[in-house]
Amino acid sequence: MLQMAVIVGSLRRESINMQLAKTLETLGADVMKFHYVSLADIPLYNQDDDVKVPAGVVAAKEIVAKADGVLVASPEYNRSIPGVLKNAIDWVSRPWGQNTWDKKPGGIVGISPSPVGTAVAQAELRNVLSVLGVRLLCRPEIYLQLTPGMYTEKGELAQESTRVFLRDYVQQLAAWVERMK
Ligand code: FNR
Repeated sequence: MLQMAVIVGSLRRESINMQLAKTLETLGADVMKFHYVSLADIPLYNQDDDVKVPAGVVAAKEIVAKADGVLVASPEYNRSIPGVLKNAIDWVSRPWGQNTWDKKPGGIVGISPSPVGTAVAQAELRNVLSVLGVRLLCRPEIYLQLTPGMYTEKGELAQESTRVFLRDYVQQLAAWVERMK
C-alpha cells in the first residue's frame, strides 16, 4: 500500500477539489492511503521563522517526508496557483537545505466550474514543483470541469466514463510512485 501526502489547494468547506481528492481516495483505496496536509494550520511564510518552524509546518513536512508520493488537487485562482497553496509549498521547501519535496514522485489534478479545468494553474504548479525536485507524472492530465449532475446527491460520480477515467489516473499514479520512490 502506497502512502500519499495529499494537498488540496483550497480552504473552502465545500471545496470541489477536496471532493475530487476524496473521489480519487475512494477509487484508489486498494493501492494508496491518503494523508491530508492541513493548509489551515500553515501561517504565512516568513523567512525569519526558518529558525523556529511553526507546528503546522512541522506537521505538513512530516506528512510529506513519510509519504511515498504526493498528490496536489487544486483550484485555479486568476489563472494561477492559489496563494494558500503556494505558501504551503514554499514552507515545505524550507529551511534552506531541508526541502522536503526533493525526489518525491507526484501528480497534479484539478477541477473547476470553467472549461479551463485548472490547466493554467497546473502548468504553473508543474514549474514550481519541478524546480523543487518533485518527479511529476505528466500524463494522463486531469483537467476536470464540474458540470451539473456530475456528482449524485450522495457525492458519487454519476457517469461510469468519469469513474473509469479517474480510476485509470490513480492506477497510473500508483505505478509511477512505485517506480520512482
Ligand atoms: C476563481 N475561480 C477560477 N476558476 C478558473 O477556472 N480559473 C480561474 O482563473 C479562476 N479564478 C478564481 C479566482 C478566485 C479568487 C476565486 C475565489 C475563484 C473559480 C474557482 O474555480 C471556483 O471557485 C472553485 O470552486 C474553487 O475550487 P474549490 O475551492 O471549490 O476547490
